[in-house]
Amino acid sequence: MKANFISLATALTLGASLVQAAPSAEKRDSNITPITVKGNAFFKGKDRFYMRGVDYQPGGSSKLSDPIADAEGCKRDIKNFKDLGLNTIRVYSVDNSADHDECMSALADAGIYLVLDVNTPKYSLNRKDPATSYNDVYLQYIFATIDKFARYDNTLAFFSGNEVINDGPSSKAAPYVKAVTRDLRSYLKAQNLRQVPVGYSAADVNTNRLEMAEYMNCGTDDERSDFFAFNDYSWCDPSSFTTSEWDQKVKNFTGYGLPLFLSEYGCNTNTRKFQEVATLYSTKMTGVYSGGLVYEYSEEGSNYGLVKISDNKVTTLKDYDALKSAFDKTDNPSGDGQYNATGGSNPCPKKNAPNWAVSGDALPAIPKPAEKYLKSGAGKGDGFSGDGSQNAGTTSTGTATSGSGEGAAATGGTGTSGGSSTTSSGAAFAVRPATFGFSAAPIAVSLVTAMSTLVGVGMILL
Ligand SMILES: *[C@@H]1O[C@H](CO)[C@@H](O)[C@H](O)[C@H]1NC(C)=O
Ligand SMILES: *[C@@H]1O[C@H](CO)[C@@H](O)[C@H](O)[C@H]1NC(C)=O
Repeated sequence: MKANFISLATALTLGASLVQAAPSAEKRDSNITPITVKGNAFFKGKDRFYMRGVDYQPGGSSKLSDPIADAEGCKRDIKNFKDLGLNTIRVYSVDNSADHDECMSALADAGIYLVLDVNTPKYSLNRKDPATSYNDVYLQYIFATIDKFARYDNTLAFFSGNEVINDGPSSKAAPYVKAVTRDLRSYLKAQNLRQVPVGYSAADVNTNRLEMAEYMNCGTDDERSDFFAFNDYSWCDPSSFTTSEWDQKVKNFTGYGLPLFLSEYGCNTNTRKFQEVATLYSTKMTGVYSGGLVYEYSEEGSNYGLVKISDNKVTTLKDYDALKSAFDKTDNPSGDGQYNATGGSNPCPKKNAPNWAVSGDALPAIPKPAEKYLKSGAGKGDGFSGDGSQNAGTTSTGTATSGSGEGAAATGGTGTSGGSSTTSSGAAFAVRPATFGFSAAPIAVSLVTAMSTLVGVGMILL
């Protein structure tokens, strides 16, 4: 926390103009190759890329601080990231008013990529009231965030949302998640920024995981995601490919046209040996999955930590050794890991309430006042100390025309922007009120409840 303030203050003093001018700043140089998407896989140049990562948010949601703005803490932890053999970290929240150059460049030097959630507790969709929380103030904040991070070659991906949908009824928020994803992609295009892959991180619920994945990959190209990810705690050592039902998750997603990865994994019900690592990076899975991210680097009171951080000192825990040993023993498959080079869209899932409460693929249009950001840039963000967006600004007033996100791109940010809307009442995405009836297994429900007290879940959704 302290370090965070110091680095922010330093940034402001040293380079107020540089920091303030971020939206028009040049791309940051580095020697790292940006990751691209081909078919259902990620690539680093010509080579298949598998995420070997951890989720990284020291302080958790209760003591929220930006780990990428904390250059000292970042460099301290990079030693362990390298020791573990990682190539990716996921961060749940950053302060978009802070300076991130030093940490991002240290990560790039270490060959490490960032998967970044664009939301913060105050700037996020509210699953209970998605229409109100989808507004121009919110979009300005997240546009300002990606504007900064798309300039780093080692930004691997952006999460447009995390576990917004966590049961059947909350699937009514899906059109908003998809609209946010569309808007982020439109922004990158309209502003001529690198097309950093954008996608969603789904909760560990069987209820509608597949529907959500299909939904995020249906419709016109401008509305589809670049990848899909979900959190998964179903492999609890001792387990196996079949006992964990990971075999089913391969079967269910075979033929899915986007890269897939596990945005959180590492069940801690029993002693963790991370036996799933050998399976995750074997051809049993790599035809469909591109690795994953272990939850989580630092111990935050829920026994998921690989290390304990106190007074800036890091102590490795038993799980750290277990994970290191699992990674050390596990190479990636040779060749292309049997990925599917075809890729592409799929039909939208059929409405099947209460599990899946959405029909078709009509999306809310981008809120009118947000269109100017596509044309002229988002400007600077208000950071963690901003007023928040959930009840602010102007909301969407219509249904988007299919392809409206392409419109934003085609105009190169000079003509009429995306979200050309009709005022046809938006009924297509105004789904009926929630019906009750949890169909997820009780274990899954209680796990989600437990997880929702942790970083990246409760903080983003409540
Ligand atoms: C596979 O998909 C089916 C149909 O959507 C679903 O009922 C089942 O729970 C899924 N299995 C797993 C392990 O995700
Ligand atoms: C490859 O992907 C395409 C498009 O998603 C799909 O139609 C095809 O069935 C997939 N092939 C295999 C072997 O999974």
